[in-house]
Amino acid sequence: MKNELIFDRSYVNGIWSSSGKKTFNVYNPANGEKISSVIDGGTSITKKAIKAANIAFKTWKETTAKHRSTILEKWSHLIIRNSNQLSKIITLESGKPINESKSEVNYGASFVKWFAEEGKRTYGDIIPSHTNDRRLIVIKQPVGVVAAITPWNFPLAMITRKVSPALAAGCSVIIRPTEESPLTALALAYLADKAGFPPGVINVVVGKNPSAMGKILCESNLVKKISFTGSTRVGKILMKQSSYSLKKLSLELGGNAPFIVFDDANIDNAVEGAIASKFRNSGQTCICVNRFIVHEKVYDEFLSKLILAVEKFKIGNGMDSEVNIGPMINSSAIKKTESFVEDAIKKGGKILAGGKALNKFFYEPTIISNVNTNMKLANEEIFGPVAPVFKFSTDKEAINIANDTIYGLASYFYSQNISRCWKVAEKLEYGMVGINEGLISTEIAPFGGIKLSGHGREGSKYGIEDYLDIKYMCFGNII
Ligand code: SIN
Repeated sequence: MKNELIFDRSYVNGIWSSSGKKTFNVYNPANGEKISSVIDGGTSITKKAIKAANIAFKTWKETTAKHRSTILEKWSHLIIRNSNQLSKIITLESGKPINESKSEVNYGASFVKWFAEEGKRTYGDIIPSHTNDRRLIVIKQPVGVVAAITPWNFPLAMITRKVSPALAAGCSVIIRPTEESPLTALALAYLADKAGFPPGVINVVVGKNPSAMGKILCESNLVKKISFTGSTRVGKILMKQSSYSLKKLSLELGGNAPFIVFDDANIDNAVEGAIASKFRNSGQTCICVNRFIVHEKVYDEFLSKLILAVEKFKIGNGMDSEVNIGPMINSSAIKKTESFVEDAIKKGGKILAGGKALNKFFYEPTIISNVNTNMKLANEEIFGPVAPVFKFSTDKEAINIANDTIYGLASYFYSQNISRCWKVAEKLEYGMVGINEGLISTEIAPFGGIKLSGHGREGSKYGIEDYLDIKYMCFGNII
């Protein structure tokens, strides 16, 4: 496929770098075909990027927020203008259905546009002084070089959600996309270059060895902040490696989202929200529903409607615009899903829809009832199109099941009772709560979790704070 936005090497200091002796292949998860071969920049390109970003930071931070905003705006326009080509790259390398890829391009561009504005509002404070001869001022300044380590499931939006606030605040950035999906990141670098970011302000380093490159970024004293989206396991490693330099960290890690359906819920709305949240990107998002928890009075009705909705899915290559369930990212993802389903069946789970892999690329949308808390899929992130359904009889029981997890990213529930809505929302131990809503992500609201789902918030007015240091200035002897 001819796509003018496909590049095959790292972008560092405004240059497409041919340094790196080896190459690695990027494959289409829908059929295993090679899409492209990319130069593995490895640790040496990572070190070069740190150096370049550090030099670029010194001048970028001196520019005005308005100037940075103009370039960010331009980048956002270019992303939208190139939506067709970008969406195709996203679908090719992540498998995501093309309509979801188009939405991701808009979603990704929305962060750039939002932070182009927010960058102009990083206000400080004047503190009423404790003595007559002093004046106390607080200003906010960019933290410095930022490394964004990003996943394959949102190869565009997870980059813009991290780097737009950083760039708007005056930081320079190094993007380390996952080796499964480097192409979208490189296309973004090309558009950033066209938008007018000076050399070294945005760098994209690609390579096959994520842990070696990540370690260099974490251990460098020049990198002042890491923002990572991925597994809790890797988040802990990055945190440990960053401890030497006492780096700031934003970690958006795993989830185990509950979706409670109370007996007073509008069941049709709940099914619609369930489908949207559980099966988005074939179940491969951090905020996909992991556990349905349904009141006994509406259990049968909810399940029968959910089964009907699931049976309407079209599974296949995401390039087909009719498809709404694409492939899993790779064979280990298929194997993991299979092992979770086998474990559930062994422990008493009943398959009501799907229940198996179609081949080595696709897993059927699956519904399992008779679920209990001993099952793997009740405790671990499934990250696949499998919907386990619990039954409950009291609010307390539902909340206990929902909170009985080490994770705390997203949660959802459906009820028409306003008092219950307030109380349950307050009791759920999660960073985000969808109330009668299954799709909660937007650039204007804070995205992030608590517990082992990480810390820091992305998007919204809060999202830029993680890229700013607070400086207190005390003016004395004012007489
Ligand atoms: C994620 O899966 O990490 C991101 C999901 C979203 O932004 O909606």
